[in-house]
Amino acid sequence: MKVTVVGAGAVGASCAEYIAIKNFASEVVLLDIKKGYAEGKAMDLMQTASLNGFDTKITGTTSDYSKTANSDICVITSGIPRKPGMTREELIGINAGIVKSVSSDLIKHSPDTIVIVVSNPMDTMTYLVHKTTDLPKNRIIGMGGALDSARFKYRLAEALEAPISDVDGMVIGGHSDKGMVPLTRLATRNSVPVTEFISDERLNQVKEDTKVGGATLTKLLGTSAWYAPGAAVSGLVQAIACDQKKIYPCSTMLEGEYGLNDLCIGVPVVLGRNGIEKIVEIDLNDAEKAHMQESAEGVSKTNTLLEL
Ligand code: 2OP
Repeated sequence: MKVTVVGAGAVGASCAEYIAIKNFASEVVLLDIKKGYAEGKAMDLMQTASLNGFDTKITGTTSDYSKTANSDICVITSGIPRKPGMTREELIGINAGIVKSVSSDLIKHSPDTIVIVVSNPMDTMTYLVHKTTDLPKNRIIGMGGALDSARFKYRLAEALEAPISDVDGMVIGGHSDKGMVPLTRLATRNSVPVTEFISDERLNQVKEDTKVGGATLTKLLGTSAWYAPGAAVSGLVQAIACDQKKIYPCSTMLEGEYGLNDLCIGVPVVLGRNGIEKIVEIDLNDAEKAHMQESAEGVSKTNTLLEL
């Protein structure tokens, strides 16, 4: 199992680290445009191998896409991250050009790969990969929902004063502060609806804190987060590499599902060796449907900014 991660910044390096630590991939290639940077990160990570007990071989390259040839999975993290006060949508001008050329270079060397898009605005960047490459739709996956759901579970556990392993919940919709749809109605603590334990007001606070999860960190860190994004990507990569058939919310091209068409947005999918193996349609109530519709309108509006 060969995995390429493009962009050796904080998010890319975290992806590589978590993938390696989970020890299911034989090889991870880190690629960056900054001379020597990916090579350095790869060497540093390899020097943790005996300490962390993994056998994954991590190598780095400065823009040599031939080194990524025959990758089973390629993760695109390249582009600029947001600064405090910025929305993910504001990154489109620079990131669209980068994601377009990176995906084309990757696919030239790995025509049968599965692409995971992390660069922001993620739903629109995922849509861009659909529109500018010939990859089938099951092989193009946007990472957002897995991260937003992890942040949702963190906030739920905090509100419930419960261990995170007791908590389950999912965020669908667009990967943006306004677009996220945390499904509070379906969140549970060990199969019991969380509404049995906390007030609607507290649950609403959980929802709002989840939606600004990335922005809160950007404010604290001065740039966007990396540990949780890296861990979320590694979860998706593992589900595909190990054919786990796990359900994660991912951004995928919709063709009528959830009443939506011609956009990529977060919905639950089954992930296995073929990438997105199934889109899972869950029954949403009227309020959730309306929120999803509003989210889709936001994503579609950002998509119109692409020069396709
Ligand atoms: C985040 O929400 C990087 O979009 C990513 O932290």
